[in-house]
Amino acid sequence: MRILIVGNGGREHALLWKLRQDAPSATIYATRPNGGMAGLCEPVELAPTDVEALSGFAASRGVDLTIVGPEAPLAMGLADRFRFKGLPVFGPSKAAARIESSKAFAKDLMREVGVPTAAYRVFTDGAAAEAYIRERGAPIVVKASGLAAGKGAVVCETVDAAVEAAHGMLNDFAFGEAGREVVVEEFMEGEELSVFGVCTGEDVVLLLPSQDHKRIGEGDTGPNTGGMGAYAPVSISSPRLLTEIRERIFRPVLRGLAERDSLFQGLLYAGVMLTEEGPSVVEFNCRFGDPETQVVLPLLETSLVDLLFASAEGAGLHRLHPRFREGAAVTTVVASGGYPGPVERGRAIDLSGVPDDDDVLVFHAGTARQGDGLVTAGGRVLACTGLGATFAEAAARSREAAAAVRFDGATFRRDIGWRELERSSST
Ligand code: AMP
Ligand code: GLY
Repeated sequence: MRILIVGNGGREHALLWKLRQDAPSATIYATRPNGGMAGLCEPVELAPTDVEALSGFAASRGVDLTIVGPEAPLAMGLADRFRFKGLPVFGPSKAAARIESSKAFAKDLMREVGVPTAAYRVFTDGAAAEAYIRERGAPIVVKASGLAAGKGAVVCETVDAAVEAAHGMLNDFAFGEAGREVVVEEFMEGEELSVFGVCTGEDVVLLLPSQDHKRIGEGDTGPNTGGMGAYAPVSISSPRLLTEIRERIFRPVLRGLAERDSLFQGLLYAGVMLTEEGPSVVEFNCRFGDPETQVVLPLLETSLVDLLFASAEGAGLHRLHPRFREGAAVTTVVASGGYPGPVERGRAIDLSGVPDDDDVLVFHAGTARQGDGLVTAGGRVLACTGLGATFAEAAARSREAAAAVRFDGATFRRDIGWRELERSSST
């Protein structure tokens, strides 16, 4: 079997790690693998967005399944090109990927099919956005509609901050093209869950929900990042809640997409706020989340490759029942100093202090091999996943491993899963 992974971050390292276990004899290719992926796959020197060259590569090597990690190639139409050429691919078409690449599209779709989400309006004009913000008052949320690497949502405590954010996007192009259209929406109170669904049309299999920590600072303070840590399972997520999320959120949206000639085949990620009125959608993504994948996949006992194949083939997901191991997983991201702002690269990384333990997994993101060594090559450098019988055990392993990662300027949050810890210590 030949598999191609498109992408080279922590999420793709976790995918590669799991696929290696599911299919030990497979040849697995990956685009420009990071320092941790390099030893586990065949490198392909092509950019994830080089759709033509990638489809040519997959065709010439007889790749049986291509798995797309990041959103950008999907939003560009990678999956359309592959399917046109008869190449099996796990990932939605360009039209279906609009669920992530256009927040305005996602919000309108949710409104049309009756999926719970925050009240909103879409703007292309700064003055109109300002008038709406002043009418609604704070707190309020201003979002660039297009792709902005997880940083395009600004939660505003005051009307002035919201007006500034909207003008920044619409008049000063703070997010470039992504912010030429802006969604202004009601602030929702509650805890968030990241729910992954492997989908093909209206058929969907949900994986174990997890919780991400998007803010840079401990106690969930400071600017949003791509994600500083995650854990699973989340004890507030009951089987009943998950059924509700499947029936009231996933199914109507998947049906709505299919009815709009945008059939979804791939991973639909719902960011769900658990409000007092019930689950409400914060956002959709058209791919696995990072760093949530680094906790969900280590807990998945059954085959991932079977699920992804079934989705790519468009058949029979309901036959497959993923099973998750008992216990918990926690991942702590170690980032370069200055992240989520500009960072320096090329700092030597020393992993010799990280415990050599089956319950500790180090997933690389922004790392590169240099000679015999490893250097930093991005904002989020590594994610240290700890596994354990309890949440507390897994969290301690994750934190201990993160603290043992050495490079100049390394930073990480010591409080990943703090809500879960409070819950477990209060029972
Ligand atoms: P997004 O890019 O839409 O996922 O937003 C990033 C983060 O901003 C979310 O994970 C939330 O923590 C926060 N956020 C986004 N929209 C809202 C909202 N309507 N109410 C409260 N928080 C929000
Ligand atoms: N962890 C959030 C995301 O992948 O978008």
